[in-house]
This record gives sequence, structure tokens and C-alpha cells, in this order.
Amino acid sequence: MATALKLVEPDNRVMDFVSRKHQMLINGKWSDAASGKTFSTFNPATGEVLANIAEGDHEDINRAVQAARAAFETGPWSKMTPSERGRLIWKLADLLEENLEEFAAIETLDNGKPLKVARVADVPLAVDLFRYMAGWATKIEGNTIPISVPYAPGAKYLAYTVREPVGVVGQIIPWNFPLLMAAWKLGPALAAGCTVVLKPAEQTPLSCLRLGELIQEAGFPDGVVNIVPGYGETAGAALAAHPDVDKVAFTGSTEVGKLVLQAAAGNLKKVSLELGGKSPNVVFGDVDVDAAVAGSASAIFFNHGQCCCAGSRLYVEQNIFDKVVEGVADRAGKIKVGSGMEPSTDMGPLVSEEQLKRVCGYLDAGFSEGAKAVVGGSRHGDKGYFVKPTVLVNTDEKMKVVQEEIFGPVVTAIPFKDGDDLVRKANDTVYGLAAGIWTKDIQKAHRTASQMRAGTVWINCYNIFDAALPFGGYKQSGWGREMGHDVLEMYTEVKAVCTAL
Ligand code: NAI
Ligand code: MG
Repeated sequence: MATALKLVEPDNRVMDFVSRKHQMLINGKWSDAASGKTFSTFNPATGEVLANIAEGDHEDINRAVQAARAAFETGPWSKMTPSERGRLIWKLADLLEENLEEFAAIETLDNGKPLKVARVADVPLAVDLFRYMAGWATKIEGNTIPISVPYAPGAKYLAYTVREPVGVVGQIIPWNFPLLMAAWKLGPALAAGCTVVLKPAEQTPLSCLRLGELIQEAGFPDGVVNIVPGYGETAGAALAAHPDVDKVAFTGSTEVGKLVLQAAAGNLKKVSLELGGKSPNVVFGDVDVDAAVAGSASAIFFNHGQCCCAGSRLYVEQNIFDKVVEGVADRAGKIKVGSGMEPSTDMGPLVSEEQLKRVCGYLDAGFSEGAKAVVGGSRHGDKGYFVKPTVLVNTDEKMKVVQEEIFGPVVTAIPFKDGDDLVRKANDTVYGLAAGIWTKDIQKAHRTASQMRAGTVWINCYNIFDAALPFGGYKQSGWGREMGHDVLEMYTEVKAVCTAL
């Protein structure tokens, strides 16, 4: 099957935006980088340059942090009521929804994902996240605390806690869901009353920059959200290390998460990390095979496997192993790989040449250690960054392809004997982001869920996300939770106030 490279033309509005000169948003103004430098973002379906963007670095990060500090301490934002903050966030959601088609097309051009997916997943989920967080702005409460104070007999006190915004927040996000990751980060920070310096991934800065325009249109005061595109090693590192940033929130690789943590040590800023995964997806012998096969295929192939929670290790009870593997491989073989702008495309290219090389490198490592591809196993076509959906068998826990995050459309399938064998294998990883369980036995489902060392467990489903459902990792998959009300803890400080009566 030849790679479909014919692009369905995005409309003029989208192309006007994409082809424009892209600057950074600091203190409510769009400006070039202090250095005057720019960098390119590529269309991963063709490998061609899509746009040029101002390349932020230390000096730009400094300016953005100063703007965020001023907005936090003395700007109109610092005096706004929670209700006013909530309404601004809601307005942003409305504007995003009005521009859904444009955002979906930008996301497809910059990231490669199918337009039909960006339309129903990335953009609506971002809209919903903002609406959910808009509601929280007025509900971030403390407690009144009855205290006893044994060394002050007879004394009376009124003690209470308040939750205050943590301050100036640095946010560093990846390229797999560029708009949605921006929403996951901005929504709770703004609901809590923080101000933000956001650094999008260098591979996919465009939708964040367009979002910056909507943030201005919604009426957020200058300096509340600053957006500085640039590379991780420069702009990202400067933000993580900045002495006047109170908290850094990072999503990306575990390797860089550890660097962010080290950089944060300088001023002991608060850190939240949403990192890699190698999530087990478990199919017990009693299942409805068709449903489990469909769910297991989508667990790994959704977003081309470029999901931190991808179900990349498929564990199947041995009595149905062959049947399930055959079913998943059959589905993989039928996935239409091509440009995300093609309406018939099910799977687009990987985001970058670097990812293409990384994923193909893992395939080579797997084959040299004895793995076999039931389907796929190589690059697709010779233009753009496409990889064939791949199912590997003959794999075991010691192999690189079973231990390390591949972040591509590659699943390893391994049989298990019984529950004990399964739990040992499933938890044999440094990661702990998610797990999937497929069974009709309700006891087995919940018992296995309790045995999984993972932040999310999906039972008879996979990749179900909601703004109300906390998401994050055990072990080296990260610190803290995103979404739900749990995320608000990451953006607030607790102040205890005690009054003698
Ligand atoms: P990365 O972790 O290098 O990039 C993520 C973000 O961190 C980007 O905005 C990048 O500019 C920034 N960054 C990079 N180095 C930095 C530094 N020293 N200080 C501060 N910020 C820095 O991820 P990359 O290189 O794009 O992908 C490598 C692997 O990471 C993938 O193959 C995948 O396994 C994993 N990954 C996981 C993601 C997740 O959702 N958990 C998302 C993206 C990648
Ligand atoms: Mg990197």
C-alpha cells in the first residue's frame, strides 16, 4: 500500500495562520525572540517545513517570568474574583469551540494525527477541560479546623485553612496532544489564580500560539498567560531552573522529567511530572473476544501509539492467546496509514524524523533479541514519518521492546498462565501510568485492578479520559495528578490561619 500523500487542502483561514510569521506572547504582546532567531516546524506527512517560529531562550523566558510575576502580584488578575476568573476560562472554552475546525486542522498539519480524530478528541476534550476547570474557580475551599492545643488549657481559637494560588507557574508540554496538553496545564492553573509561562514542544507549537490569540480575545489580563516557543534544552531548561518560578509542571519523557526535577532544586520550586509509561493491557480467558480485540488494538494504535498511557504490553491468558493476537494483528493490517488530512486515514505519520528513527530503532532491537512481527515491523513508505502498525510476539520481560517506552504503533504480546503470573509480569516495569483489564468476571476485574501499580485502570475499556477523572503515574510515571479536583492541589498552597478568641 503506497503512502497517500495527497493533502486535502485546509481552508484559507488555517493556511493564513500557518504561513504567518509566528512570534511569542509575553505580557500581552506578540514579539520576536530577543536573539532574533527562529526555528522550523515540519509537516510530518511530508517532511516539509510547515512554519517558522520565534525561538525563545533564556532572555525571553526571563521577560515572560517577569510579566507573569507582575500579573500575579499587582495586575488586575490578582484582584479578580473567582467568579470573574471562571467566566474568563469559560469564555476561552467557547472561543475554542467556535474555532474547532481551525484548531483540528492546525493540529493535523503540525502533529500529523488524522483530522477526524483531532475534531472529535483533541479539540472537544480541550474545550470540556476548560469548562470543567472554569467551574472549579469558585469552589477552591479550605476547612475550619477544631484545634485542641494541649499546652494552652482553656484557650479558644478559630482555625481555618485557605487554598491560595501557588504563584508563577512554568509549564512544559509535549507534542503528542499539543492543544489538549496546553488545556490540561492552563485550565487548573488559571482556575487556581496562578499566572503562567507555557513552553510548547518545538515539534508542535502552532495550536498553542493560536490559543494565545484566543486567550487575548477572551480578555485575560496581560501577563497572565505567556507563551514562549523554543527548544527544551534552552527555553525549557531556563524555565525549569528559573529562580522566580514557584512551580513547574512538566509532561514528557521520564529522562527529561528527572532533569526538570534537578533544575527545580535551585529554588525548590514545586514540581509535578506526567511522564512515560509501558502500560499493561490484560485480556483474561473469559472475555468477549471481539470486544477485547477491538479495545486492545485501539489501546495501542490510538494516536499512532504516541500516548504516554498506550497499552503497549498486551498480556493474554494462554487459552486464547493465539486468537487475540490474530485478531489484533488483523485489525492492525487493516488500519489505513496516510496523511492526516485524508478523510479515509486511520493513522497518520509519527510526529518527527527523530521519532521515526527511535521507533524503527526499537523494532531492530526487538528483532535482534528474537522478537517476531505478526504484522508490520517497518517504516511505511519512504516519504513522511510513517510506521506500520506492528504486533510483536516471541517477546519476554527482559527485552528492550518490553521494558522501554517505544511511543509508536508497536505492541508486544505475551501469554500468561494465571492471575499470579499476570500480576508479576504486568507490574515488572519502572513505569506505572495505566493498565487495561478485560474480563467478564467482576471479582477478577476489581481484584486485578487493586493489584496493578498504576494511576489509571480501565476495565473493559481503554483510553477513556474525562476532565473530572484524575490522571497521573505511580513509580517513574510521575508525580501528582492532572485533571479532576486532585490537580488543584498541584496549583495551590495551603495556608493555616489561627486566631485566638
Ligand atoms: P521530551 O521529554 O524531550 O520533550 C517534552 C517537552 O520537554 C518538550 O517541550 C521539550 O522541549 C521539553 N524539554 C526537553 N528537554 C528539556 C530540558 N532539558 N529541560 C526542560 N524541558 C525540556 O520528549 P521528546 O524528546 O520529544 O520524546 C522522547 C520520548 O519521550 C518519546 O519517545 C516518548 O517516549 C517520551 N514522551 C512522553 C510523553 C508523554 O506524554 N508522557 C510525551 C512526549 C514524549
Ligand atoms: Mg527530547
